[in-house]
Amino acid sequence: MRPSTLRPRRQLFVCTNQRVAEDPLRSGCGAEGPRVFLALKTATLRRGLTRDLWITATGCLGHCPDKGCAVAVHPENRHLVEVTIEDVNEVLHLAADRSQDPPR
Ligand code: FES
Repeated sequence: MRPSTLRPRRQLFVCTNQRVAEDPLRSGCGAEGPRVFLALKTATLRRGLTRDLWITATGCLGHCPDKGCAVAVHPENRHLVEVTIEDVNEVLHLAADRSQDPPR
């Protein structure tokens, strides 16, 4: 094992977990998560931010909102819920805001 030399400024984890509708934990983010993930990936690519901002699909983040999906922004450990496709530009703006950068 060795530490990687690649390190994003921020990494967004987008929940794409999908459960069956009858699941006692509800259906999860699967309905909206993949759409939000793809939109964030596409927007990041178009804006030339792929080196600094990584978009990663993930499983359940523990929030399981009734609508939309959950997104975690690291290294701030900021968690957003009920994120929909309409929120993608705002999420990207928040993640690309360098004034919130932690010291490196
Ligand atoms: S299913 Fe997305 S946070 Fe739990």
